[in-house]
Amino acid sequence: MTNRTALVTGASRGIGRAIAERLAADGALVAVHYGSNKAAALETVAAIEAAGGHAFPVEADLAQQDGVDVLIDGLKEGLAGKPLDVLVNNAAVFGPGIDATEDEFDRVFRVNVRAPFFIIQKALPLLRDGGRIINISSGVTWFAVPEAVYAMTKGALNTLGRSLANTLGDRGITVNTIAPGITRSDMNTWLDDVPGAADGVAKIVALGRVGEAADIADAVAFFTTPDSRWVTGQVLDVNGGLYLGPRAPLHH
Ligand SMILES: NC(=O)c1ccc[n+]([C@@H]2O[C@H](COP(=O)([O-])OP(=O)(O)OC[C@H]3O[C@@H](n4cnc5c(N)ncnc54)[C@H](OP(=O)(O)O)[C@@H]3O)[C@@H](O)[C@H]2O)c1
Repeated sequence: MTNRTALVTGASRGIGRAIAERLAADGALVAVHYGSNKAAALETVAAIEAAGGHAFPVEADLAQQDGVDVLIDGLKEGLAGKPLDVLVNNAAVFGPGIDATEDEFDRVFRVNVRAPFFIIQKALPLLRDGGRIINISSGVTWFAVPEAVYAMTKGALNTLGRSLANTLGDRGITVNTIAPGITRSDMNTWLDDVPGAADGVAKIVALGRVGEAADIADAVAFFTTPDSRWVTGQVLDVNGGLYLGPRAPLHH
C-alpha cells in the first residue's frame, strides 16, 4: 500500500477505525471519514500518525442530502491531486424493525445504501484503474434479526457489489463485500452490557468468541492486496463460523 491512498467511511470508531489503522500500517495515506464525532476521528488520525502512518480527517453527515458531495470535496482536498486506490464503504446506522416510521426508514437507507452508491459514483473519476472497492455488509442478510430495515440495506449492498463488479471489470477495478458477524463495537454495546451475552455469542460461533474489529480489518486488507486480484463480485462472511450448526452433538 506504500504510495497508495484509501478512503474509509465511518473510520472514527469501531470496525472503520480498525480498517483505517490497518491500511495506514500497510503504508496507505488514509482519508478518515466521520459523521459527527470529530474527537473520535482525530483519535484515529493520531493513532495512525503515532504508528508512523499518514491520514487526514473528512467530516460529512451522510444522512444529509449533500453529505456525499461534502465528503468528496474533503477527500479531494486531502488527496491534493493524488488518485484514490481503495474505497471502503463502512459507515452505517443500525435499526429499526417493522415499527419504523417513514422518516426512520429513509434515514437508514440514506446512510447505508444511498450514500455508498453515490460515494462510489462520485469517487469513480478519482479511482485509478485497477483500484479496489470494498463494501461492508452484514451476516443479517442470511440470518434473521428484528431490525428488518437495517437488514434490507445490507441486502442492497450485496446486490450492488455483484452488479458493479461486472460493470467495473473493464477498468480492472474489483468490487467485493465483507459481511461481518457479531463484532464488538459501539453498535453492539449489549455484548458488554448484558450479563452473559458475549458467552452466549461464543456458543454459536465455531471459533468460540465474539469478533473484534481487527478481525474484520485484516480481511478487508486482503482485498487491497495483489493476492486478491482474481476475486471480484463476492460476498465474504468474516464471522468466526457463525451459526454453522450445533456445536454439541445432537445425540450421543
Ligand atoms: N458491529 C457489528 O457486529 C457489525 C456486524 C455486521 C456488520 N457491521 C457493519 O460494520 C460497519 C461498521 O460498524 P461498527 O460496528 O464499527 O459501527 P459503529 O461503531 O457504530 O461506527 C459507525 C461509524 O459510522 C459513522 N456514521 C454513523 N452515522 C453516520 C452518518 N449519518 N454520516 C456519516 N457517518 C456516520 C460513525 O461516525 P461518527 O463517529 O461520527 O458517529 C462511525 O464512524 C457497518 O457497516 C455495520 O453495519 C457491524
